[in-house]
Amino acid sequence: MLKGLIFVGILAAFATSDNVVFKDCGSKMGAISTVNVTPCPNEPCLLKKGSNISVEVTFSTKEEVTKASTGVYAVLLGQKLPFPNFPYPDGCKDSGLSCPLKSGGTFKYNSTLHVDSDYPTVKVVVWWQLTDQNGDMVYCFEVPAQITK
Ligand SMILES: *[C@@H]1O[C@H](CO)[C@@H](O)[C@H](O)[C@H]1NC(C)=O
Ligand SMILES: *[C@@H]1O[C@H](CO)[C@@H](O)[C@H](O)[C@H]1NC(C)=O
Repeated sequence: MLKGLIFVGILAAFATSDNVVFKDCGSKMGAISTVNVTPCPNEPCLLKKGSNISVEVTFSTKEEVTKASTGVYAVLLGQKLPFPNFPYPDGCKDSGLSCPLKSGGTFKYNSTLHVDSDYPTVKVVVWWQLTDQNGDMVYCFEVPAQITK
């Protein structure tokens, strides 16, 4: 029994180890509870060129979401630039979400960010948003990052 509890405790510690401290950038029709970026043990998240970064967001809804779009941007020198060729713009597809999402529910969204080898090695803020059928923000978070070799 005790061993089981300790084991569960260790699992929980691992499961939460890559939860990042994020800045909310305008969640309105939903609310974020956790953002998990793997790998990212500390911020800024080091985004290694050629690697895949996995992103998991646990959030709740304040309305029914029938359609969802993902936008991923790099904020650099005050400019918000879309990550080129982000392959998962439909937030209801390949994301663990099955739309419609009911109002008042809690959901887990997942995605993958491929760090292209062509990206410059710069410090950026990654801006990640999910908008609804009306273009309103369901959630939005910002995480500081550094693109590395
Ligand atoms: C990243 O993901 C893409 C698409 O799933 C895959 O083709 C590629 O091999 C992955 N790269 C690494 C380094 O895991
Ligand atoms: C999200 O998770 C599902 C289930 O694990 C997986 O099949 C899918 O490829 C993931 N989506 C992305 C964009 O990584």
